[in-house]
Amino acid sequence: MNDHIKFLLNGELVTLGGFDPGLTVLRYLREQAKLKGTKEGCAEGDCGACTAVSATLENDVVVYKAFNTCIQFMGSMHGKALFTIEGISTPAQPHPVQKAMVECHGSQCGFCTPGFVMSLFGGYCNGAGGDRKSVDDLLAGNLCRCTGYRPIVDAAASALSLAKPVDFDGNRDALAAALAEISAPGAVRIESEAGEFFLPATTDELADILAKTPKARIVAGGTDLGLHVTKRHIQFEALVSVAAIAEMNAVVAEAGGLRIGAAVTYETAWPHLEKLYPDMGELIRRIGSVQVRSSGTIGGNIGNGSPIADSSPVLIAAGATLTLRKGAERRTVPLEDYFIEYGRQDLRPCEFIEEIFVPRPAAGAVLKAYKVSKRFDQDISAVCGIFNLSFAERDGVTRVASARIAFGGMAGTPLRATACEAFLIGKPWTEETVADAKAILDRTYEPISDARASAGYRRLIASNLLTKYFLETTASKEFRLAGRLEEFTSWTQ
Ligand SMILES: Cc1cc2nc3c(=O)[nH]c(=O)nc-3n(C[C@H](O)[C@H](O)[C@H](O)COP(=O)(O)OP(=O)(O)OC[C@H]3O[C@@H](n4cnc5c(N)ncnc54)[C@H](O)[C@@H]3O)c2cc1C
Ligand code: FES
Ligand code: FES
Repeated sequence: MNDHIKFLLNGELVTLGGFDPGLTVLRYLREQAKLKGTKEGCAEGDCGACTAVSATLENDVVVYKAFNTCIQFMGSMHGKALFTIEGISTPAQPHPVQKAMVECHGSQCGFCTPGFVMSLFGGYCNGAGGDRKSVDDLLAGNLCRCTGYRPIVDAAASALSLAKPVDFDGNRDALAAALAEISAPGAVRIESEAGEFFLPATTDELADILAKTPKARIVAGGTDLGLHVTKRHIQFEALVSVAAIAEMNAVVAEAGGLRIGAAVTYETAWPHLEKLYPDMGELIRRIGSVQVRSSGTIGGNIGNGSPIADSSPVLIAAGATLTLRKGAERRTVPLEDYFIEYGRQDLRPCEFIEEIFVPRPAAGAVLKAYKVSKRFDQDISAVCGIFNLSFAERDGVTRVASARIAFGGMAGTPLRATACEAFLIGKPWTEETVADAKAILDRTYEPISDARASAGYRRLIASNLLTKYFLETTASKEFRLAGRLEEFTSWTQ
């Protein structure tokens, strides 16, 4: 095993070993590399002040990813190119996104500016568009307390509308060659007084490391685990990263559905899942920010076991299963059974999630995903309701043929509404049926009140989401909405 990682820092090859497994990229940049342009704001992935960009080779193509350095572990930089604000320009030749920021007056106190520039740089290199939706998506993970955003949005629209894509220095081939040289497979083990950081290259190596080092904690994107270091000040004795395991980073389409490796990021999974279930794509767009989605994984979202994780309810409603592996032994578990109770999952010591299988939609099924949160972007769900029903015509009546309904934020785990599903199957798809089903939903869940929402709000919104689903799946939606409007008008007169 190698005892160091190799990466390109603003074009220069760096070999690094003997570091604390919990060393974040931000700490490395500011304290060791003395690159202080990358700022620390929140230290929890929310403000974007610490944004840098990594570049990797994916199928021989250079892919740039903006990410939050505050919660990313340094070991994950192995085999990558890392760009910071210091490396994208010279004083004589600012990068086009920097020029646009200056011309549009996009900076005041300047604390947030390197982060905004790096998010824009990542988008620019990947050929993101300058339309409002692309700009909003690109900048949702960056906060500014001074400018009021308009000048920054103008700068983004201006820089990203340039007739490109081009990469930042027109030297993408040279970068691809340099990356090819350092991204050769091979396991890494970094040891220091503080602990160990493992980077296995295969699932067999991962299984072996976990068997021999039971205290090792798996890390994928680090967007949950990074906060254990920055906020809870936990010192990990051993971390084992799944980021360099090719099998766990693959998405394989089969006749029956998709096999998604547990280390696949949201950004990579998004187009595949969207093809099967368009609303799953919309839901992924609402997870965190570009920075979070470029690192965060579906395996990590499930592994974290949070009752408000967004991917769990939607995958449960789609009928997903998990492959869990310990040593050479594998078992398959329906995702809904993985969550036992709050804080407890069906994962044995030294076992790991290897992949997630997402079946294709049943014939005639309509999956709708509704995330209810205080903000559209970069916010955690108060309630996440997923409805996956199929319908069939019998005797001229549309009836429910199958039903899978799951909620996040309504219990200690992501949970299916099995009583409501059983009631719906075979019933005519009418307002009366929906009214009765809503009463059952209301009795199913006992949500808690917390900072995100009260229990009462959660119950009301959960059952009202079924009405929304009904309106969206019935042809007479406009008529019904018009009817509601008439009702409302007569009531207010
Ligand atoms: C700013 C911000 C916004 C966020 N917004 C959202 C949001 O909108 N919706 C949402 O659901 N989440 C959100 N999150 C939470 C987080 O991004 C997700 O839960 C993400 O999917 C975690 O994936 P990861 O790869 O980063 O996991 P990591 O942090 O690497 O790991 C998380 C946990 O899973 C375990 N784990 C990882 N991989 C495996 C495996 N293969 N087998 C077994 N255990 C494993 C780890 O040991 C750890 O306990 C947000 C986080 C941040 C910082
Ligand atoms: S410091 Fe705020 S996202 Fe990293
Ligand atoms: S310019 Fe001051 S925080 Fe953005």
